[in-house]
Amino acid sequence: MSEKYYITTPIYYPSGKWHLGTCYTTVICDAIARFKRMQGKDVFYLTGTDEHGQKIEKVAAEHNTPTKEYIDKVVTDLKNLWELLDISYDKFIRTTDDYHEKAVQKIFTKLYEQGDIYKSSYEGLYCTPCESYWTEAQLVDGKCPDCGRPVEIMKEESYFFRLSKYQDRLIKLLEENTEFLQPATRQKEMINNFLKPGLQDLCVSRTSFQWGVQVPFDPKHVVYVWIDALTNYITALGYGSENDELFKKYWPADLHMIGKEIVRFHSIIWPAILMALDLPLPKKVYGHGWLMLGSDKISKSKGNIIDPFILSERYSLDAVRYYLLREIPFGQDGMYSNKAFLSRINSDLVNDLGNLVSRTTAMVEQYFGGVIPAPQTATEFDSSLIEVATSTYAKISENVDNLLIPEAIENIWAIIRRANKYIDETCPWILAKDEQKRGELATVIYNLCECIRFSNVFLQAFLTECPSKIFEKLGITDKNLMNLKSIKKFGTLTPGLKVTKGEALFKRIDIEKELKELEKIAESTAKQAKAEKKEEKKVEENVLNISEITIEDFAKVVLKVGKVTACEKVKKADKLLKLTVDLGEEKARTIVSGIAKWYTPEQMIGKSIVVVSNLKPAKLRGILSEGMILCASDDEGNLSIVAPITNIKAGSEVR
Ligand code: ME8
Ligand code: MG
Repeated sequence: MSEKYYITTPIYYPSGKWHLGTCYTTVICDAIARFKRMQGKDVFYLTGTDEHGQKIEKVAAEHNTPTKEYIDKVVTDLKNLWELLDISYDKFIRTTDDYHEKAVQKIFTKLYEQGDIYKSSYEGLYCTPCESYWTEAQLVDGKCPDCGRPVEIMKEESYFFRLSKYQDRLIKLLEENTEFLQPATRQKEMINNFLKPGLQDLCVSRTSFQWGVQVPFDPKHVVYVWIDALTNYITALGYGSENDELFKKYWPADLHMIGKEIVRFHSIIWPAILMALDLPLPKKVYGHGWLMLGSDKISKSKGNIIDPFILSERYSLDAVRYYLLREIPFGQDGMYSNKAFLSRINSDLVNDLGNLVSRTTAMVEQYFGGVIPAPQTATEFDSSLIEVATSTYAKISENVDNLLIPEAIENIWAIIRRANKYIDETCPWILAKDEQKRGELATVIYNLCECIRFSNVFLQAFLTECPSKIFEKLGITDKNLMNLKSIKKFGTLTPGLKVTKGEALFKRIDIEKELKELEKIAESTAKQAKAEKKEEKKVEENVLNISEITIEDFAKVVLKVGKVTACEKVKKADKLLKLTVDLGEEKARTIVSGIAKWYTPEQMIGKSIVVVSNLKPAKLRGILSEGMILCASDDEGNLSIVAPITNIKAGSEVR
């Protein structure tokens, strides 16, 4: 029985905003999966989509579409992208799949029953668009550090996962098993930044939105992202369902490939969940770097062409795959530019690979009537050429195992470059002039064809269009000349095959001219994106208009004029002021407000303000806040307190 190999990408958010960077994880995994299959491994390659959460619920509502219907369309787009890129996944999981939702409920219940999940309440500063709680210290200018929008104070009854309980085991895991998380720099980061300072229990349910897997024993709650998303790696294999054969066969994962921004989830939270479930841990988590445009993680708004559809249509899919696999130093960030992309095509694909194939096939046609000759007389250059070709497999195999994909590709190019040099060394066009040298010429041409075959066998793991073209040019149809077994011995290629030169594999690019063309396309796409944004904004405004409220709704909010009688800063919270406010009631109220950036305590004392007086009290930094102060704020970060413009008694109602 062949050895199994289970490899996964993260499940993707159905954001609909795909670009070249989005393709990085799937293309890398695809190359690894293809190589492992060639090695005879029983590979299972999983990818999918992460479909729950408030953000998606909101976006769908903005499009006036039922949530699932909206997502279905976006998921189809994503699947089309993977088809374009020839991603050879074995399964595509959607977290809205019925079997997944059921399994998540089972897992959640099990963890609750055994005490790893407990009910408590959570209070913090919440950014709705990002669905994230932040601490005061994490905020940037009082706003969400991710999107820059305002956060709100939120208090929720929630379920918590006892992450802290697993702290010691996690430290041991990351310190002792150096294979578990790579590159090594990420491992140190996790230990020093997260594990050593101490883990807090994790909030794993929400009541603020509906679009998620319901907590079966408390339907007000939905399961929050961690337990829903991370568990896809096991539910996809049938864990928690009637049929868990795949799970038994493939778990634990051999490799979770992920981007560096989600390393913490995969190397701390995920193993802790697995420990709680008493399941084996994945063998390796690898956090790759980002594809950057300038200093930003790639995004559609910039001028470069980063649309995989446009790039592969103009320059071939293999050019796109080659660029992603070859150009970005693995584990580190890579910088995208049109120029670097086009230069790679010309130097590696046109000059090195394309030239070798076209020169060699042309010579077979010219000197041997298009038929691969049998080798006859050795030349002094053969042995070093053969040595390069036959030593390659071991190197590639090691590099793929160490996830050094650009290096593995470089190993293939070592054969290609050596073969080009061999042409220059042996000068076949001179040999061809001398009838005495016919035997040497035959050997040279045969060796060149065999070198092309060797490199092409390996290329099949990385590129998906050009390898079959190359086999066709060499007249190779026998599958036994295409597999890894066939490159054990140099000289396996059968003489007598009919070669055709045909069209060039890759067209040489006029870089200056193409750069201008790409700029034009980028400009028009940017314009289009702008127009779409405008359209989106309109839709958003319409939604706001639609959600009109009645006078009864408004009457539920009791607004009152209050007079600030005392005010001070809240200790260790530089954004907060603690105010004492007279609302014409028996006792003055205490209100905590995040206005310290705009108003000093001195400015506040004596001011008349407007207060939401019937807001449910909430504790902030240990202080019970009994109301909320009305403020106006704009996009530029300005804030102004709302106040009556003439003197009016404290306690007057605002309506
Ligand atoms: O993170 N360069 O999904 P996602 C390289 N749903 N890789 C990039 C990239 C770029 N510019 N942009 C995105 C999620 N990626 C969660 C995962 S897993 C249980 C839940 C990569 O759609 C990113 O690093 O935001 C990640 O590996 C993948 O695309 C999906 O990202
Ligand atoms: Mg992300």
